[in-house]
Parts: sequence; structure tokens; C-alpha cells
Amino acid sequence: LPGTPTSTDESSVSSDYAYAFDIDGVLIRGGRPIPEAIEAMKMLNGENEYGVKVPYIFVTNGGGKTEAERCLQLSQQLEIEVSPGQFICGHTPMREMADAYKTVLVVGGEGEKCRHVAEGYGFKDVVTPGDIIKDNQDTTPFRKLTESEYADSRARNFAEVEIEAIFVFADSRDWASDTQIILDLLMSKNGRLGTRSDTFDEGPPVFFSHNDVVWSASHDLTRIGMGALRVSLESMYEAITGKQLKTTAFGKPQMGTFQFATRLLQQWRKDTHGIDAPPSTVYFVGDTPESDIRGTNEYNKTADNQWYSILVETGVFQQGTTPRFTPKATVNTVLDAVKHGMEREY
Ligand code: G3P
Ligand code: MG
Repeated sequence: LPGTPTSTDESSVSSDYAYAFDIDGVLIRGGRPIPEAIEAMKMLNGENEYGVKVPYIFVTNGGGKTEAERCLQLSQQLEIEVSPGQFICGHTPMREMADAYKTVLVVGGEGEKCRHVAEGYGFKDVVTPGDIIKDNQDTTPFRKLTESEYADSRARNFAEVEIEAIFVFADSRDWASDTQIILDLLMSKNGRLGTRSDTFDEGPPVFFSHNDVVWSASHDLTRIGMGALRVSLESMYEAITGKQLKTTAFGKPQMGTFQFATRLLQQWRKDTHGIDAPPSTVYFVGDTPESDIRGTNEYNKTADNQWYSILVETGVFQQGTTPRFTPKATVNTVLDAVKHGMEREY
């Protein structure tokens, strides 16, 4: 076997290669595991003909809850133990911006969840669309807060507050009202609600946790995602102001996300398997050519040919079509992807 086995119970750990998995459309669809995913995880944990365990991490563009909460859920779905030390979601890198802005608007997700995620990241003053509607319900003519939203929202006099940045953490549950509030801020004088800029160039910056225009949920066909909100916001802003809006997206295919993933994998291999050298190959298994395959291929160019893209047919990409970005291999399911990597190694 290649590489030095570093520890043994019944099986040894491969020090040579590793896997990174996208989640939606590869392991999970609409909250339920893709059946082959459970078997694929078992294979990585030693149930394979080579008698090896192979380290792996998860890199999803999804989000909307804390990393710890998502890992607990993933552990149940996949029947394995998943630790935050092997997990990155779309908003994880936003953690590094907590000191750059004081008061921020956080958009998306269920209830108060994203506010809690942002506060957990260290953001000092987190405002939600609900807070703004509670302060002035004329903000969104067609959206009234539910009783529990009203109770949770924190009203204050927003005429006196400067919102310094907008972070879209997870999918908006109400595009129309969230869009209205984001546009109000973008067209304001320095992020102060109730004002209008004469020049439309003094609004706060907007950050999206990823840019997937479509994604794979429980419906047979792909569903629109956060990237679609981004496209819509940019074109609405232009229609209203005549100016172009520049926004920033994190997540895959951004190189920063793959660099982050490399550091995470390195730490994970060291802490849990005692391996202190980079793997010779990282097999990245994804379903979305535009984010997973594009990102892996581009990153690979700067990473000594270390990252190897595998496209599956259980999510966004469908059999019989041509992907816009060409993977090193295309297979049917995540189980085939794990087998493909192992067969290449031995
Ligand atoms: O909203 C999540 C979706 O756009 C993609 O998630 O796991 O396929 O990166 P994932
Ligand atoms: Mg996916």
C-alpha cells in the first residue's frame, strides 16, 4: 500500500490521500441521505478490500445554522461522527470579518438562527430584517411579522443606526421583503435607513456566503438558490439607480474556500490521525460543475496537481448533458466516486 500507515486498530489510516465532499446533491438531498452515501462513508471508515481508513472533510456552500449544529445533523443523516474540525460551510469564512464591521445586517435562514451564527462568529451588533420591520412595519407592505418573529425581533430607532455591511448568510425565506431592505440600505446615506443618497455610492458592501444560482434539493429538478438572489438584486439595483452594483461571494468556487479547506484538512489529518504531511491527492466529490468542479480544477493548478475533481450525477449535473467545467472523472454516485479514488491509489 502507498503511504505509511500511521495507526492501527483493525485497519490502518492512509497517509497518502484524502477526500473532500460537497453535501447537497452528493450526500444529501432535501434533508435525506442519498442511499449510497452511507455505504461510501463506511468504505472510508475501513470497510473496504484494502483495509484502510481514509481521512475526509466536508465543504458545502449551504449554511443557516452553526457548524456544530450542522455536524450533529450530518452525523445522524450519514450514521457517522462528523466533527466541526472537518467541516466548512458557505458562511464559515465570514467569521474572519467579524472585526471589520461593527453593525451588520444578516439576511437569510430560519428565525433567529443566522443572527446566532453571526454573534457566535464575534460580530458585535447584528441586525436582522425582522428588527427593521418591527421598528417600521411600512418597510415591507406585504410582509407582516408572525407573533414569534415579532417577539424575537429587536426593535430600535434605525434612523440613528449606521449599518456598515450586509451579509447574506443563508437562503432568504422572503425574497421580496429582504430585497427591499437590502436595496433601502444600498441606496441610503452611509447605511442609515430612511435616507436616500444623491449619488448611490455610499451604501454598505454586500457579501453572499456563496453564489450557486441553482442547487439540488428534494424536487427532481434543480431549485433556485442564493446566487439567483444575487443576480436579481444586482439587476434590480441597476434598474432603479442606473448604476452597477458590485457584490462579493464566498464559498465554492472561490479560491479562498479551497485554501481554507486545505488548511482544515491539514489540521484534521494531524489532530485525528497524527499525519503531519500534505496528502498527495485530495479527491473532491461534487455535483455542481460551476462551483465544485470549476473551483477544484482552478485550485489544482496552484496546488501541485493535488486536487482531483469527481463529478456525480445525483444532483445539479444530470447524465447525458455536458458539464461547463470538465472533471477528471464523472461517476454515478458518491459511492462510485470513493471507489474510483481507491482504485486509482492501489
Ligand atoms: O444552498 C446550498 C447549496 O447551494 C449548495 O450546497 O453542499 O451542494 O455545496 P452544496
Ligand atoms: Mg452540491
